[in-house]
Amino acid sequence: MKVAGEHYRTIWPEAGGQVNGSQMVAIIDQTQLPHRFQTLRVDNVAGMVNAIKTMQVRGAPLIGAAAAYGMALAANADAGEPALKQAAHELLTSRPTAVNLAWAVDRMLQVLLALPESERSASAWREAAAICDEDVAINQAIGQHGLAMLRPMAETLKRPLNILTHCNAGWLATVDWGTALSPIYAAHDAGLPLHVWVDETRPRNQGASLTAWELQQHGVPHTVISDNAGGHLMQHGQVDCVIVGADRVTASGDVCNKIGTYLKALAAFDNRVPFYAAVPTPTIDWSMTDGLREIPIEERDADEVAYMTGMAADGSMQTVRVIPAGSAAANPAFDVTPARLMTGIITERGICPPGELQRMIKESNP
Ligand code: MRU
Repeated sequence: MKVAGEHYRTIWPEAGGQVNGSQMVAIIDQTQLPHRFQTLRVDNVAGMVNAIKTMQVRGAPLIGAAAAYGMALAANADAGEPALKQAAHELLTSRPTAVNLAWAVDRMLQVLLALPESERSASAWREAAAICDEDVAINQAIGQHGLAMLRPMAETLKRPLNILTHCNAGWLATVDWGTALSPIYAAHDAGLPLHVWVDETRPRNQGASLTAWELQQHGVPHTVISDNAGGHLMQHGQVDCVIVGADRVTASGDVCNKIGTYLKALAAFDNRVPFYAAVPTPTIDWSMTDGLREIPIEERDADEVAYMTGMAADGSMQTVRVIPAGSAAANPAFDVTPARLMTGIITERGICPPGELQRMIKESNP
């Protein structure tokens, strides 16, 4: 997608790193958005682990791509089996909830360990690039399936279609295009009049900081709302459809996504508002069927709840405490929306009710 008219992906290899004079990886530092657009260079696996932990890169598909490039950086330094397995372990434990991370690390390990050591480094960069290209193609396809679903909704209205989204499942959460925002970009580009309600998404404010920034860059009409406003808007007919992303989806269609998604699904169910998750198939964990019991939920630092950071009137970045000194805070970062509350799942292979994922994947063309 474009930033000030220039095309960017969220992650890309760059020549000239410090390790063996070989490649390094460039990322967009998402902790600086929406106030500053800054890119960073990462030249070792510890740097990539840190970028994932601190959420300089975040969003399930991008975490997978970053982990793949983390493995390539590890192979630059030492392509022996013990070193690669150690790098895989460090990456796997950097954030627990998004299954894309484990998927990408496993795929890299499988490819690399099957090769002689001398071929692993070059192959690692090729495989990481392939994972990124596949992510872009998947997300474009999700956009087209989503557009086909949104078009008839929009055509029955004499006003713009109102779509609500939670967190950031746009291009910043992927390599390009996004998942939940891909149908929105496709619909906007196809000329469908639409407007997006953007949940702020406390405590990290991915909606307010990242989704709003992305939509603004692309010229999509949007309004940022507090996390508590969605139910009220649904009760008053101001939301036609909800589209969210996902960090892990079970074979039975339970959707794990950013904390607060479940509450929006409950409100949508009560108000008969269609509720969709946009899900690349690498985000489906076929080994799980009970999302509530089986999906590990990341517990992040309570300070993310206790403090807020933003830009002051003089342009400086300031962090302020928003809860009383001495009050405890807790920060579960994801929740699980049971399949029964979802209308459908939009994948690159098509759209289906949540309980029919397996059948759809079997019957659709890859
Ligand atoms: O904690 P984050 O910002 O990594 O969480 C991201 C989300 O929950 C997204 O909605 C999800 O990863 C889908 S991204 C395409």
